[in-house]
Formats: sequence, C-alpha cells, structure tokens
Amino acid sequence: MLVPLPGTLTAKLDLQENVPLAPLTTLKIGGEARFFVKAATAEQVAAALTLADSQGLDLFVLGGGSNVLVSDSGFDGLVLQPALLGITYAEVGETASGQGAVLVTAQAGEDWDSFVEYCVERELAGIECLSGIPGWVGGTPVQNVGAYGQEVSETIVSVHCLDRQSAQVLDLSAAQCEFAYRRSIFNSTLRDRYIVLSVTFGLLKKGAPKLAYPELQKAVGTGSAIPTLSDVRKAVLNIRRGKSMVIDPDDANSRSAGSFFKNPVVVRSKLTEIEEIFPQESVPFYDAGNGMVKIPAAWLIEKAGFGKGFSHGNAGISSNHSLALINRGGAAAAELVSLKEMIVDAVKVMFGIELSPEPVFVGFE
Ligand code: EPU
Repeated sequence: MLVPLPGTLTAKLDLQENVPLAPLTTLKIGGEARFFVKAATAEQVAAALTLADSQGLDLFVLGGGSNVLVSDSGFDGLVLQPALLGITYAEVGETASGQGAVLVTAQAGEDWDSFVEYCVERELAGIECLSGIPGWVGGTPVQNVGAYGQEVSETIVSVHCLDRQSAQVLDLSAAQCEFAYRRSIFNSTLRDRYIVLSVTFGLLKKGAPKLAYPELQKAVGTGSAIPTLSDVRKAVLNIRRGKSMVIDPDDANSRSAGSFFKNPVVVRSKLTEIEEIFPQESVPFYDAGNGMVKIPAAWLIEKAGFGKGFSHGNAGISSNHSLALINRGGAAAAELVSLKEMIVDAVKVMFGIELSPEPVFVGFE
C-alpha cells in the first residue's frame, strides 16, 4: 500500500502499477514492475525520486531496455523511465583546420540510433561507428558504449544529472565520469547516485569518420572516394545486421541484450598460454595497453563448447554471434541465467578466465 502523498506530487506523475517490463526490454523477458513511472521532464524525475524515498520503495532507472535482464518475478519497487526528449545544437567555434566544433545535447529518452543518424545527416563526426546500437541516449555514458574503435567517452563533454543524494541537478565533466572500457562512475563507484537527464557531445562539423577497425575499413571499401560519415554509418549497420546486432522484430537472433559478456582484459602471458592450447589457431586479441590484451569473449565461448545456435530450453546463443544470448521465444529469465552460468563455468575451467556479464540484472536477489 502506498501512503497517501500530497496531491501536488502524485498529480505530476502518471504512476502505474503492475506494469509488464518484458516489452520494454530488447530481450523481451521478465516480470512486472510493482510501480512504474515514465517521466517526461526533469521535474517528474525528481518527483518520482521523492515518491520512492518517501514510500521506502527500491528504485530502478530503466532506459531503452537494451542492456538489462529482468527477473521472472519482476521488480518489487518503482521503475522510473526518464523519457525526456529533445536535441539542441550549438556551433561553438572553429578548429585550426577550419572545421566547426559543435555541441549537441540530447535528452536521456532520445533513441540512440536516431540521434546518431541526426548527427551523421548534419555531417557531425564522432559517433558514426556507434550506429545501430539499441537503447536510449541516457544509457550511453553509463557503460561508455563503444564499437569499432569508438566510444562515447571520446566525444562526451558533460553529463547533466540529478543527484539522488542532494536532489540537485548538476553537470559532470567527462573527466568526472571516469570513463574506461564499458565503465564509468555511473556503473561502478557511484552506482545509483545519479540519474542521467541529458548528455552533451562535442562533435566536429565535416570531420573525418573514424576507421580504426579492419573489418569496418573492408566493409567501407577501398574505392578512390574518401568515405563520408554516411558511408561509415551504412557499413556499420550492414555489419551489425549481418551479426543480428540490430534489433529486428523478424529476426529472433536479435532478441538479445547485445554482447552478453565484456571482452576480458588479461595479462599478455595469459594470451601466450591460450596460444599454446590452440597452436593451430591465430587467437584474436586487441592490445589494451600496459602489457594487457583484450580477448574476444565470443571466441572463448565458442572454444569452450558453446557455438553459434546453441540452445538451452527457450534461451540460446545467436546463430550469428556467439556473444549474444537470446530469447528463442518465451524464454524465462531463469533459463538465460542458467545458460550464462554454464558458459561462465566452462570458460573458467578451460581458460581460467572469469567472464563478466555486460547487462544489468534487475530484480534478482
Ligand atoms: N568472434 C567469434 N565468434 C563470433 C563472433 C566473433 O569467435 O560469433 C570473434 C572473432 O574472432 C571476431 C572477434 O570475436 O573477430 C570480435 O568480434 P566482433 O567484432 O563481433 O566484436 P565483439 O568483440 O564480440 C565488441 C563489442 C561490441 C561492438 C563490437 C565491434 C564488447 C563486449 N562488445 O564485440 O559492442 O559492437 O566489438 O566493435 O566489447 C555491444 O556490446 O553490443 C557492442 C555494441
């Protein structure tokens, strides 16, 4: 039972009860939220926080639902979805080479890929490789979304947040966010402290696209013309579609949370050990600096016996990418969790590497 609240507070919010969360996630799995608020303004976000605090409700902040696994019993608290919309654009000067520097601010509820498209259409360079990634803008600084050698940390100037401790809004600079691979203060040291309201990116008008990964260079082609941002966006979308990493309601392999595990960063001697186990193979890796290397979790998973198309009840592994755990249709969260555990155990036994899941687990003990 909710304790009656002052009318002004409840009136501001469209408070719903027993809301199914599965449709709000890309995995399409999970039970209901006991309470649910979709907030369209920063004031509504603040009011939802006050509501949760005053009622002693646990709070979970949901964005586009592309990186979450909700438990079968749902979430026994308040799920808050900051669905703030709007994009603003300001030219702020020129670089030495005459390119325009532009600050673009997107509200947390903007669809990420539509935002990338908006920027590419305006010839703004800096996030083109992040095309086709599902989810909302507000989630991108949390896990420092990245692909094809580009991460949002390279262009984020500031993140506008509501501080749950002081109930004040503030801007955190990129440095204050302490970005690293799939990491920021928002998902580590200061988890649950801030709610992202909008993100400001510094982009370069008519800047060159980033072509760091050979796979992307190959897809863009080696024609004589210099590739445009739009060429790169198209190439990324094609690559991602080929791996079922673009959400498509007709493609069951895309019913996933994208990469289910982070690519482990290990000491170089671990790579040498693995190369000795598989002398016939060229073990894929990326240099991670400081004597460390990042090994694709997808490769480790396959070698540990979990190939593309593996099924485990109604859960499984995508037929097009072994890093995507999928809902093959009607999967329970428990099936995904047990598949995750089987994979983690097998990779640990074979390689002595502990894989860490990338999605956020909601409503589990
Ligand atoms: N591989 C396999 N089997 C597969 C797929 C890949 O063995 O089924 C091996 C291959 O050796 C391949 C390597 O893994 O060369 C890397 O695969 P891929 O380029 O598909 O990238 P990834 O390492 O699996 C990471 C990011 C993705 C990002 C891509 C491209 C993580 C956890 N994931 O995946 O990030 O799109 O690189 O840069 O870092 C996402 O997580 O959804 C995401 C957007």
